[in-house]
Amino acid sequence: MLDNDIEKVLVSAEEIKEIAEKMGKQLSDDYRGQFPLVIGLLKGCVPFMGMLVTEMDIHVELAFMDVSSYHGGIESSGDVKISKDLDISVSGRDIIIAEDIVDTGRTIKVITELLKYRGAKSVKIATLLDKPAGRVVELSPEYVGKVIPKEFVVGFGLDFNEKYRNLPYVGVLKQSVYK
Ligand code: IMP
Repeated sequence: MLDNDIEKVLVSAEEIKEIAEKMGKQLSDDYRGQFPLVIGLLKGCVPFMGMLVTEMDIHVELAFMDVSSYHGGIESSGDVKISKDLDISVSGRDIIIAEDIVDTGRTIKVITELLKYRGAKSVKIATLLDKPAGRVVELSPEYVGKVIPKEFVVGFGLDFNEKYRNLPYVGVLKQSVYK
């Protein structure tokens, strides 16, 4: 039924699995001997972060923040609001932020600066998708699953008005759904 609202599939379920395997292996190699703190930005991070950490064969600690920059529409508001903060210290920690997508880059930039201000030793970004054409701040995620064009996408954590996060792939919504 959800499939009916999708114009085209941009990243298939199989491709997402391959991305998670490759990125998980790379992160394991890069962080071997360390105990990184993987921070997920709710709620979009949930499916990809879950898949990514199960592809890592080193010890990791998981934590979550609820941060929003979109308020129900398809354009970023530019406002970054923290509605759930971390309940642990990040001082001296190596942090990997697990994200669904980096678009304008505002959310990640604000959170990265906050974590560094709080004493994080390093902060790197692992994102399933990157939309560099949407960037308004200077920022390049260190780990990118797939670069996509400046289109509004849903699925695998990404929502439109809180819906479609549970699609097992990433796709472009039919205009008729949001127009
Ligand atoms: P940024 O601060 O503009 O980089 O936005 C990051 C957040 O905006 C992501 O974590 C998503 O929640 C949301 N977002 C950006 N692009 C899309 C999209 O194409 N579909 C759904 N949500 C998006």
